[in-house]
Amino acid sequence: MYLGIDLGTSGIKALLIDDNQRITASASASLSVARPHSGWSEQNPAHWIDALETVLDVMKSTFPARLAAVRGIGLSGQMHGATLLDGNGEVLRPCILWNDTRSHKEAAALDADPRFREITGNIVFPGFTAPKLLWVKHNEPEIFAKVARVLLPKDYLRLWLTGEYVSDMSDSAGTAWLDVGQRRWSPELLAATDLDESHMPSLVEGTQISAMLKPDLARRWGMREDAVVAGGGGDNAASACGMGTVSPGQAFISLGTSGVLFAANATYSPNPASAVHTFCHALPKTWHQMGVILSATDALNWYANIARSDPVNLTAELGDTLKAPSGVTFLPYLSGERTPYNDASVRGAFVGLGRESDRAALTQAVVEGVAFAFRDNLEALAAAGTRLERVTAVGGGSRSDYWLRAIATALELPVDVPADGDFGGAFGAARLGLIAAEKADPWAICTLPSIAETIEPEPRLRDAFDDAYARYRGLYPALRN
Ligand code: XUL
Repeated sequence: MYLGIDLGTSGIKALLIDDNQRITASASASLSVARPHSGWSEQNPAHWIDALETVLDVMKSTFPARLAAVRGIGLSGQMHGATLLDGNGEVLRPCILWNDTRSHKEAAALDADPRFREITGNIVFPGFTAPKLLWVKHNEPEIFAKVARVLLPKDYLRLWLTGEYVSDMSDSAGTAWLDVGQRRWSPELLAATDLDESHMPSLVEGTQISAMLKPDLARRWGMREDAVVAGGGGDNAASACGMGTVSPGQAFISLGTSGVLFAANATYSPNPASAVHTFCHALPKTWHQMGVILSATDALNWYANIARSDPVNLTAELGDTLKAPSGVTFLPYLSGERTPYNDASVRGAFVGLGRESDRAALTQAVVEGVAFAFRDNLEALAAAGTRLERVTAVGGGSRSDYWLRAIATALELPVDVPADGDFGGAFGAARLGLIAAEKADPWAICTLPSIAETIEPEPRLRDAFDDAYARYRGLYPALRN
């Protein structure tokens, strides 16, 4: 048995897989986010530990024999959070999370130093870890003075589980302190935020053993004392391991509240100018690129609320046949946009409305607008050297066939829809636990899911979609200011 643990923003999920990678048990516990000021987003690391204890207690009471057979544990987690510890390993303040934007000025200042894009291959986004430390230095100097260690959220769980300060490459790539091409901390970038390598955990690959479970915890849950904890990964890289997105040409689209286009790469090929994230993958000598859309299903939820309907009804009204774009264009920048613009202040728009524009025309425009935002991501990845031949779609929005048809036609790529399964970080983390414990070949374990259906692009609508995409692209400069 292998245990995968994913520390998400809204909860912790743990699951067990057997030698054949079948899920044999799962448990979850919820977490809340504190927002003490506008733009702030924090969690108390003690609540992560409480939630972890809850899920493991549940597993012990429901499947003790399965938990007792665990040989490898993998960790996945929300990325970028700053967990600050003193010299005794005590937490100094609530963790500042990935979606906290208080450090936007510090991020801009670091991003203006050309060494950051040069060494990390990424824009310094306000959500990344380094600008958060600069914010603490400027605003809470007494806390900054006591910082002995900086850990990412899942690595704080590891510290509690094993007593060791270790991180993996994929999660560390989101700090803005990692030399992403060389897969090591950059002393130069750490020094730019008044830190050095002694503040950082040691680094392993996601597939390597990072440490052993503490004997007292093994006894508490009736687990083996030789259970190993793998490096694991940031949640996107771990999910990719679960979906088998691990070799060049493989990619997935996640149609969730926000949208992600994630592609695996065999080489380090950054493109910060298009706001593409280029991070280490959780597998050795592998990287990934990722474009992020801030409002994906969130855009349709927003419109459904205004239209006093719900997203399922709205997309059902569009029928089964993909239509040509109507001339109404929607730009989904309700909370700004990351890729390709890195623009937190731009806002969305409906353009081209006429008396004939009814509710369905607006739904169609929202669905197409999100599809075009994915096309922007595809082009940003193409500019960074990534060519895709197909994508796998996951996430709540992928339940709409119409939406997937619009995406396939906008991207001119077949979209594979997996048969039911678990595609979150916990499953990928369990695979990483298996690889570390058994010294297995990562590529033999991280296989593709079985595909229930493939949605092909519709050639009859290609020109109409290309024209509508050109209109969509042309509108951003007008909205920017
Ligand atoms: C990735 C990112 C998010 C978090 C959320 O860059 O900000 O996907 O990892 O869990």
